[in-house]
Amino acid sequence: MLKLRINGQLRAVTSAPDTPLAYVLRDEFKLKGTKIGCGLEQCGACTVLADDEAVQSCATPAAVFEGRAITTIEGLSQTPEGKRVQQAFVAQRAAQCGYCTAGLVVAVTSLLRTQGAFDRATAQTALRGHLCRCGSHPRVLAAAEAAQKGDG
Ligand code: FES
Ligand code: FES
Repeated sequence: MLKLRINGQLRAVTSAPDTPLAYVLRDEFKLKGTKIGCGLEQCGACTVLADDEAVQSCATPAAVFEGRAITTIEGLSQTPEGKRVQQAFVAQRAAQCGYCTAGLVVAVTSLLRTQGAFDRATAQTALRGHLCRCGSHPRVLAAAEAAQKGDG
């Protein structure tokens, strides 16, 4: 049986192994913070961490993630960087409807973990694949900058 490490816990997966990870997270484990927008790896809403890498989860089979540490938006608040990024998003009011927000928080957390210090251009490039129909990107970039500086 497929086992996945999700938010620090080893979980047995009963869904078919070719089920995309986002559906396993949402439907089997009720981790509804991971959103599904396009379902086609085009919008970034479904982004989760695999180890420290930000990955889209809507189309890749869950079995591909065996052996990697998956962290969803629910698990991020238990980590120092995730908490810092979430606080920065709140302080900068970097969301409107919020549909894209979990994916963006995950992506900025990945950036913090993998790059440490980064500039706005690096953040812009890293977040390019994340669509926000509400136009929150300027505030998201401000939040990324604040999180990076530890301003919260
Ligand atoms: S829902 Fe996965 S990229 Fe859009
Ligand atoms: S805040 Fe609405 S889609 Fe980004």
